[in-house]
Amino acid sequence: MTTTLSQFARGLSTETAFDVLAVAKRLKAQGKDVIELQIGDSPYPSATHALEAGIAAINAGQTHYCPSMGLMSFRETVAANYKKEYGIAIGPENVVVGPGAKVFEQFFCEAFLDAGDEVLVFSPAFPTYAPNIERRGGVIVTSHLKQEHAFRPNLHDIEDFVKRPRAKAIFLNSPHNPTGGVATEGDLKAIANLVRGKNLAIFSDEPYNHMVWTGKHFPMLGQPGILDQTVACYTFSKSYSMSGWRLGYAVSSPRVIDAIGKMINTSLSCVPPIVQLAGEAALKNDAQERDDVMQRFKKKVELLVEELLGVPGVGVIMPAGTFYVFPNVAPICMKLGITSHGLAMFLLEAADDKLGVACLGGECFGPAGKGFLRFSCAEPDERLVQAVAFFRDAVKRVERVEAYLKEHGKFRLQ
Ligand SMILES: Cc1ncc(COP(=O)(O)O)c(C=O)c1O
Repeated sequence: MTTTLSQFARGLSTETAFDVLAVAKRLKAQGKDVIELQIGDSPYPSATHALEAGIAAINAGQTHYCPSMGLMSFRETVAANYKKEYGIAIGPENVVVGPGAKVFEQFFCEAFLDAGDEVLVFSPAFPTYAPNIERRGGVIVTSHLKQEHAFRPNLHDIEDFVKRPRAKAIFLNSPHNPTGGVATEGDLKAIANLVRGKNLAIFSDEPYNHMVWTGKHFPMLGQPGILDQTVACYTFSKSYSMSGWRLGYAVSSPRVIDAIGKMINTSLSCVPPIVQLAGEAALKNDAQERDDVMQRFKKKVELLVEELLGVPGVGVIMPAGTFYVFPNVAPICMKLGITSHGLAMFLLEAADDKLGVACLGGECFGPAGKGFLRFSCAEPDERLVQAVAFFRDAVKRVERVEAYLKEHGKFRLQ
């Protein structure tokens, strides 16, 4: 008899971007030319001083365990940098290191949720929020982000949510993946006023804090009196092109930071010191390089939007932040009778034998994403132009779409 997997393990949903990435790599290995716009990674090398410091740390023998909360020098550097960037005075006691930002979703839920607690999630949403909430038996309440509201959070929904007897937490993500929406300072103020002093926690996921194209980034912790009920998360993956190093950190009150430190102690032990030393060097020395890279991303996003505006059936707005473009392609999907993720997979696998474009259907981010595609812009400019030209042409290949749908019935639009 086989041992049964837990109900949680059997139902676990994952980040589709990594599955599409695997298909794209397999097709490339078979000789297909694939323009890879599926995953939110940087095409640029990791920040210069991070690379040097990482190598120096290996050579200096920084290759052993270190404190679970992080190296004191790393936490101090993060705190000083936070003050410099946002004018918010925090100390190392407010900072805990993690292997990227994603892991803090799990730790936040472990810190605040008991079974049956309700969590407000704005949909479409980063796909790993749901499994991390479900891991603790939390119940998701959804608020839809709308293109006509520039994908900003709906304050009325938050007002309604906080009145619910089991309301416990809100997952905020600004700048937002996949839509590129950015909450205004007024939005954050209103949210802070609704939760301040209540038994409600905020997970403020801010991995794209340096990618704001309209206005500037306002951290949730810029709002007064909410530190002890907020966990704000940051990553080196996007700003310093360090996704493979796995480095991020969370900011909160010492009480909450200590609780998260215990979770790291009992799961990961620690984040490798060589990685923390690399990140520390990036924070100290690579701000200018980071800002230059961010401007390059902005230009790519503008280019992608401009090209997509020329495709019939596509409705697209310039994202206020992030390196994603999230066009509405519902008219194309309706015409072809295919779901938006089906369309994405068709572009990759079946539209052409020699060339493919990898992107994601909006439903990879929840049902509210249906009818949208998400393109990242991690390829050279001429490849972005080529990808959109390919897309414009591919949606005319009706027989190929029909043959693809015959083989993949799950992508047929009901
Ligand atoms: C909204 C959001 N949160 C968290 C992450 C995780 O980033 P990392 O774990 O690489 O720091 C990402 C990465 O794409 C993201 O888009």
